[in-house]
Amino acid sequence: MRLFFALWPDDAVRAGLARWSREFHAQCGGRITRPENLHVTLAFLGGVEEARVAEVERAAGEVAMQAASLVLDRPGYWKHNRIAWAGASAPPPELGAFVAELREALRRAEIRFDAKPFVSHATLLRDAREPRATPELAPIEWRLSGFALVQSVTLPRGSRYEVRRSWSA
Ligand code: 2AM
Repeated sequence: MRLFFALWPDDAVRAGLARWSREFHAQCGGRITRPENLHVTLAFLGGVEEARVAEVERAAGEVAMQAASLVLDRPGYWKHNRIAWAGASAPPPELGAFVAELREALRRAEIRFDAKPFVSHATLLRDAREPRATPELAPIEWRLSGFALVQSVTLPRGSRYEVRRSWSA
């Protein structure tokens, strides 16, 4: 099954991100991330055998997340993959430290993941045009209270992400 670790928003943060994606979409088109799928990826594992999921969960249980506040105040756009996203101009240092620990625990357990450096961002649009100007969007304050192991389920009309398990800060 296809798995990743993520920050999973509460309803208020989700609503704020959904608003950003609509405003961004008005400028640069593309495919909007379904509101129920919005998240920040911490580590992308990809395909994991069913028999190893317990090891993945055990590795996550070894690390403790500290509560912190993530302020999403920075709309961004990547030309190379035509993704428009919501990011943070000053991500809390606790978050970077936590992601490093989580990834280290995965390495110790010999669980493979995409080693691309962590950039805290929530993908809002795919196949989007480059925006002419950065949209003015109201900052979203996200009190990080935990993280989740999420399964990506492929449906005929795209993917749906389902939280399998979550851990509190
Ligand atoms: P993205 O939002 O920037 O596309 C589920 O696919 C989530 O894992 C997405 O949020 C995606 O990031 C992220 N992800 C990170 N590395 C990935 C990879 N190598 N392949 C697919 N998704 C990846």
